[in-house]
Amino acid sequence: PQSKYDESHRLQYHFSPPKGWMNDPNGMVYYQGEYHLFYQHYPNKSIWGPMHWGHAISTNLTHWKNLPIGLYPDSLGYIFSGSAVVDWKNTSGFGKNNKPPLVAMFTYHNMVAEKAGAIDYQTQGIAYSNDNGRTWTKYDQNPVIKNPNIRDFRDPKLSWDEQHQQWVVTLAVQDHAEIWTSKNLKDWQFASSFGKQWGNHGGVWECPDLFQLSTPEGKKWVLIININPGAPNGGSGAQYFIGDFDGKNFILDEDVKTYVQHEKGLWMDYGRDNYAGVTWSDIPQKDGRRILIGWMSNWQYAQKVPTENWRSAATLPRVLSLQKTTQGYRLISEPVKELKGLRVPQKSFVLSQTKTLTTESWTPKLNFKPTLSELEIEFEKPRSGKVSLVFSNTKGEKYSIGYDSQSNQFFSDRSQAGDHSFSKEFFEKVDIAPRFTESNTVKLHLFVDVASAELFADNGKTVMTDIFFPSENFSQFSIQSTEVGLKVKNLKIWALKKSW
Ligand code: FRU
Repeated sequence: PQSKYDESHRLQYHFSPPKGWMNDPNGMVYYQGEYHLFYQHYPNKSIWGPMHWGHAISTNLTHWKNLPIGLYPDSLGYIFSGSAVVDWKNTSGFGKNNKPPLVAMFTYHNMVAEKAGAIDYQTQGIAYSNDNGRTWTKYDQNPVIKNPNIRDFRDPKLSWDEQHQQWVVTLAVQDHAEIWTSKNLKDWQFASSFGKQWGNHGGVWECPDLFQLSTPEGKKWVLIININPGAPNGGSGAQYFIGDFDGKNFILDEDVKTYVQHEKGLWMDYGRDNYAGVTWSDIPQKDGRRILIGWMSNWQYAQKVPTENWRSAATLPRVLSLQKTTQGYRLISEPVKELKGLRVPQKSFVLSQTKTLTTESWTPKLNFKPTLSELEIEFEKPRSGKVSLVFSNTKGEKYSIGYDSQSNQFFSDRSQAGDHSFSKEFFEKVDIAPRFTESNTVKLHLFVDVASAELFADNGKTVMTDIFFPSENFSQFSIQSTEVGLKVKNLKIWALKKSW
């Protein structure tokens, strides 16, 4: 039977699997009005196991329809993370009736070989679909990229390189990324490797993505590298690099080098729950967005979180862009505009004029609960105080997120947001994030959904994504300032709808 999505801690406007385990988003491709979302999935249990590609589609990035499993494990292995593209020119020859095929590339993880002690057990395979992603046929000559005798060799992210008329795939190879190229998606040549000397190496490199973004100074290339562990607040996280691509090599920009010297890194999200995020392929040029979705968990505790029938959800989809900050170009993430469609008419609060407050509960002023909500606030940067947005329940549990002027950092504190018994690391410390602007107005844009918070601060310059598990849904909301007289210039709160 279809899940009712009404279990406790079940998110109400994020994608989560009907049952069983989920990790990375996979194979995101847009084709004929549908956004496809595949995901690492073990349908039989709520822990990691033999990996399948679960499948869902959406026409608006907010309402998801579950479809049958897209790819099943086979004799070559489990189906690990990967990507999908529209092969518009039918370079692969998999197309039928003048319709371009969808082609997916994924990692085969051969568990049998691994257990037997081999190290070359990860290879790349492909599959194609001629029916809008509904059914997939695996290529009969898989694998298309063999293992060069290295333990970690995975997570292929495909893209079409228009300038050089070639397919490009970016792979995560232990402590670096590799770029391979092809004319037909079947025969692949090694082109280059990047990263041994650059960026954070606190863990294994996983789930890369390479794409172009526009800036006022022309186009630049961004290379996303997920890493586990090594993230700034612990466990799994996403670092990125900015540079150029010449058809073979990724060439790091001079001005980011100081920030990505060995063991340093630039981070897409400072929360602990945005991992393995990569972007959609084939979003039409007239739309032009580069949209990313991540896995809203962390390998530190993902398999222990207190949900039963299912585990994990995806983040909200975010639009990526490059903007100049006080430190040069940085990757900006902003929630997709489609999310505005979730706002409940008649259930919103708008502050009509600037207001000075110290600590104030907004619960009595809202004709709705903040359990599913979106909030925008702008306030004058306090001299040295701390401003917290606090969500709480009748059990005295609370989650607070905000800005601390003294350290010039944002923070997200779930240490009192629920029962600590499932994991020590989950509650260990308060997550912190730097600020990338000197503006005197601090702007927070926050999405809360039962068991998650996503903060886009200063128009997406600093992002924090965190999950939490209160024993009762948060029903109260207050703003707390440690300094007397916080000047709030703008405050809007919306109740959001369920998307199921
Ligand atoms: C990242 C990851 C990938 C791998 C997949 C396996 O979370 O470890 O590198 O392909 O998960 O499920």
